[in-house]
Amino acid sequence: PVDLYQNSAAHRSNSPGIDLNNPLEVNVLLEAISESDTVDWRAGPIINGQLRPGSLQPLHSPADGTTIGFASDSTGEDVENALESARQAQPRWDLLGGRARADTLERVATVLAEAFYSLVTLIVREAGRTLADAIAEVREAIDFCRYHAHQARQQFGEPVTLAGPTGEDNRLSLHGRGVFLCISPWNFPLAIFTGQVTAALAAGNAVIAKPACQTPLVAALATQLFHRAGVPGDVLQLLPGDGKALGDLLLPDPRIAGVAFTGSTATAHIIQRTLAERNGAIVPLIAETGGQNVMLVDSTALPEQVVDDIIRSAFLSAGQRCSALRVLFVQDDIADTLLHTLTGAMQELQLGDPSLLCTDIGPVIDRVARDRLQAHIERMTKEAKLLARLSPPSNLSGYFVAPHLFEIEHLSQLNEEVFGPILHVIRYRAEALDEVIDQINACGYGLTLGIHSRIRGFAEQVFQRTQVGNTYINRNMVGAVVGCQPFGGCGLSGTGPKAGGPHYLTAFAIEKVRSENI
Ligand code: NAD
Ligand code: ALA
Repeated sequence: PVDLYQNSAAHRSNSPGIDLNNPLEVNVLLEAISESDTVDWRAGPIINGQLRPGSLQPLHSPADGTTIGFASDSTGEDVENALESARQAQPRWDLLGGRARADTLERVATVLAEAFYSLVTLIVREAGRTLADAIAEVREAIDFCRYHAHQARQQFGEPVTLAGPTGEDNRLSLHGRGVFLCISPWNFPLAIFTGQVTAALAAGNAVIAKPACQTPLVAALATQLFHRAGVPGDVLQLLPGDGKALGDLLLPDPRIAGVAFTGSTATAHIIQRTLAERNGAIVPLIAETGGQNVMLVDSTALPEQVVDDIIRSAFLSAGQRCSALRVLFVQDDIADTLLHTLTGAMQELQLGDPSLLCTDIGPVIDRVARDRLQAHIERMTKEAKLLARLSPPSNLSGYFVAPHLFEIEHLSQLNEEVFGPILHVIRYRAEALDEVIDQINACGYGLTLGIHSRIRGFAEQVFQRTQVGNTYINRNMVGAVVGCQPFGGCGLSGTGPKAGGPHYLTAFAIEKVRSENI
């Protein structure tokens, strides 16, 4: 049998990215960013390898409102053309086999690496991510290509021979399901898009990619790079546009054989219901959704490290990571000291232009996100105790939300994921650990968990007793690395299997067994 875990260790050559301590590399990056002001970025449906301009609308930077490019939404005709071409192309792509598909995905990794600066620039411009986040994101996308290429060779290369009586030949092989619909969010417009698409392609599927409507430019550039690297135009089709409108057309269509979705829990529920209402084949849904992520800090934790890890987990990336820290449980006897240091550290954070190296926190994605976060801040200001807020510079014109720290009594005061730089603190007594664990399990989400303690038995006990996909001990709780921290949750946080892990590709495949009397 194939040894999945050993193979996952053997693939590891994660992308090196850019050394931000090297002035030469930084200068090239900064030049690329300033040159991008002259690029005429365009996005729209890409059907059979051709970008269809359609009715172009301007796209604005979330950081300053300037126009960064133009995009058009997909029409019903685009949907039909994409679906029908993908359906016809899929058997040929599947028959190529895992090794040939892996070679193509390796070329995609190379082409993405060659376009590193353009991709970083566009992620910063369109999604408002900071330079450090954008660099990490391009690295992650390249890692997904190589990791899935490796997995395709291992799992989809040759059939596995199984045991059987003398004279019987039993073989198990994996194949694509058909056309996979990959629906991605705006907060990792390249990495999650690439992770889903390369997994579906590696497994032998054709792909309809539906990116977030906030970030079609990154998706269009990525799709063009995939095609340049050798992914056939009919095997990967891009359909940007409104989620509900395209979901209503695509999800009920019998030509969709599987759905990979990353986004909010509410949208995952809608997709699941729509698929369940379909007649005919039962269609798998791989959903990676939100979290109500907790960090537990006991009185033995190292305060300086804890504060650094809290800042990184809760406030960087403007809190716009599904993995981000939302609720900090602090043991009461160290709470005052820790919170004092934390509020001081918060004041050092730089909110501002995400294309500047000195910026820690960029904007949130759009007006809707900003208004939703401001409404939560107003509610918390009335219902909780405000411990700290960062005073943002007055000259910011984009969708900025300053980091806030509130003290609350109980996790149930937060009824849904708060997707921004807002942290909630709860003090707990050592004797009340059982109740804390009950609160974590009762919230229904199960994505990430942080534990800071120098008592290994304490960390192990919390790890064993909580239903959470990714637990981080004595470190920050964001930035899972492909192949090192396979990522994904349970319950309201998703279905699994974990992205960047050894079981992911099989969820995109069907298994066939061939038994021959020889
Ligand atoms: P969202 O659910 O609003 O949108 C995600 C995608 O779904 C977008 O492409 C959107 O256009 C599409 N969509 C919306 N309605 C649809 C419908 N009815 N049918 C089909 N598609 C539809 O989420 P978002 O705001 O883009 O992303 C943020 C959310 O994503 C957060 O909840 C975050 O926690 C989650 N997320 C999870 C992970 C993870 O790995 N678990 C990673 C990143 C983000
Ligand atoms: N995979 C991303 C992280 O770990 C969401 O932060």
